[in-house]
Amino acid sequence: MTSESSARPTNSPTGQRVHLPTDKELVLKVITMPADSNVNGDIFGGWVMAQVDLAGSVIPARLAGGRIATVAVNQFIFKQPVKVGDLLSFYSEVERVGNTSITVKVEVYAQRMRQPEPIIKVTEANLTYVAIDDFGKPRKVEQNPGTP
Ligand SMILES: CC(C)(COP(=O)(O)OP(=O)(O)OC[C@H]1O[C@@H](n2cnc3c(N)ncnc32)[C@H](O)[C@@H]1OP(=O)(O)O)[C@@H](O)C(=O)NCCC(=O)NCCS
Repeated sequence: MTSESSARPTNSPTGQRVHLPTDKELVLKVITMPADSNVNGDIFGGWVMAQVDLAGSVIPARLAGGRIATVAVNQFIFKQPVKVGDLLSFYSEVERVGNTSITVKVEVYAQRMRQPEPIIKVTEANLTYVAIDDFGKPRKVEQNPGTP
């Protein structure tokens, strides 16, 4: 199943049917605040990037079972503006588990204030995290059997 299927399909402003994924893990939900807006009155992209970095770290931290560090933001796409008061939902899935690194895809969906429909996909990103030891050096990812 892809993220294009869901129990609650809706129509985006661009006419695309968009919905919250059912095949990815919900790793963060947050409501945007005026303090995080830019000169246009929309939410500052750097704030969104910080939230995506946090959200993206959830699954790698669990898989690595210890300290991790972000080594790369491989791709970051702002598809639609994020507005003050949006309810943002961050979904993540593992794309690759390497020797010491874990790469994830993060998708961010917005529900506008007092207007939960339509759901809008605002951002998607691809990030790589590295498992590190007490000295900040890469260490092997020992994936537990049964860990998703
Ligand atoms: C993360 C860090 C410990 C990695 O150390 P390193 O000596 O560069 O490690 P390596 O070259 O052995 O690479 C480690 C893993 O990262 C991957 N990697 C390194 N650079 C990468 C890049 N630009 N893109 C994607 N993956 C990368 C490697 O492929 C390797 O993965 P693998 O073991 O699964 O094959 C080190 O770069 C570091 O401390 N960076 C700063 C981290 C940080 O402060 N992040 C917060 C940003 S403010």
